[in-house]
Amino acid sequence: MKEKPYILIADDEDANRKLLLDFLTSLGYNVMEASNGQEALEQVLKHKPDIIVLDINMPILDGYEVLKVIKSNPDTRIIPVIIITGLGDNESHIKAVELGADDFLIKPFNIHFLRARIRSLLTIKMLYDLTRKYQKRLEENNLELLNELVKTQEITIVALAKLAEFRDPETGEHLERMREYVRVLTTELKRMGKYEKYIDEKYIENIYKSTPLHDIGKVGIPDHILLKPSKLTPDEFEIMKKHTIIGGDAIKSAIEEAGMQTSFLDMAKHIAYNHHEKWDGTGYPFGLKGEDIPLSARITAVADVYDALTSRRVYKDAYRHEVAKEIISSEAGKHFDPEVVEAFFNREEEFIELKEKYKDRFDQSDILQK
Ligand code: C2E
Ligand code: SIN
Ligand code: SIN
Ligand code: FE
Ligand code: FE
Repeated sequence: MKEKPYILIADDEDANRKLLLDFLTSLGYNVMEASNGQEALEQVLKHKPDIIVLDINMPILDGYEVLKVIKSNPDTRIIPVIIITGLGDNESHIKAVELGADDFLIKPFNIHFLRARIRSLLTIKMLYDLTRKYQKRLEENNLELLNELVKTQEITIVALAKLAEFRDPETGEHLERMREYVRVLTTELKRMGKYEKYIDEKYIENIYKSTPLHDIGKVGIPDHILLKPSKLTPDEFEIMKKHTIIGGDAIKSAIEEAGMQTSFLDMAKHIAYNHHEKWDGTGYPFGLKGEDIPLSARITAVADVYDALTSRRVYKDAYRHEVAKEIISSEAGKHFDPEVVEAFFNREEEFIELKEKYKDRFDQSDILQK
């Protein structure tokens, strides 16, 4: 990435373009413009911008066509694309996400949202460029840069996870608690014996590092669903469920892009895809059953639900530990692997302690608990 990031604005409305141009220039970005889809593609190929802000309804080539071309070309696929459109319906949103859009804003929107999205996506792009650079040097010189590369990957993971959190403000210290809960459960499962050989130190380290990525796919869910302060309709929940596929696919393509397999990214992929599968086969997205569900995802499921239950969400208040425990207990063998539930019971005190230790900041759940 250049010193001053390049942003391409593709919009056929002169007034919109001017507004964005002034705003983004004032923030210190280099801004290029295109007034139709074809111009946009020419600009992309010629100048390789760091980020693209793309309108859907445009003459000659529309935004979907442009998106399709950008995301199918290996040279431009990594450039983040933020779709800006007046079309607020779910179908347009799904179409854009399926074509590879990185974010989606519906007009009219607060321009400071755009600024926040641009910042986050540029951070990811920068980390990605950095990883690529290290990878290239590694290939060229066969140097011992592996340590640095691993560090870069860890930073990338944390940045990605934080991005998802940023869209989902109610979750607060969720990630920190999740990885602690998961570590307790995994250590206990090892102690209990059944997976003693399977769970080694590396496994525990991997699951601790990768579990924060479980909901990364929520970045692809529109705000009006993600942040809805009440119960989701069945249609909305269908879209919500896609966070598993969006997240799993994103990690899968990150693995393919990087051209190397790491046990930790592989586990992150399993967890993102499968953390809403249920032991009795009634979960999503694949309806996997029992031990067909990767162990890492079975562990994450218990930690995730315990944390969702004991935290406040936009759509619900926090439950007390005793209530959460009741629910988890009644779901052993239905939602959850009974073995993981047993591990939870064996280490119950630590869950209570961790919940206190990593309490949500600014959360009033002490008062609101029911
Ligand atoms: P999340 O808030 O992180 O919740 C994770 C999982 O915890 C849920 O997966 C569910 O299995 C469990 N859970 C959460 N709250 C409750 C509860 O009050 N009772 C019980 N028995 N279980 C609970 P699920 O249902 O597949 O939902 C996945 C994600 O979809 C949730 O993640 C949340 O982001 C969203 N979501 C689910 N229901 C609603 C809703 O009614 N409104 C909104 N705005 N979002 C929802
Ligand atoms: C896949 O890896 O593509 C399938 C889902 C999984 O088991 O993680
Ligand atoms: C894991 O993610 O736990 C490895 C796969 C498996 O348990 O089947
Ligand atoms: Fe989830
Ligand atoms: Fe979660």
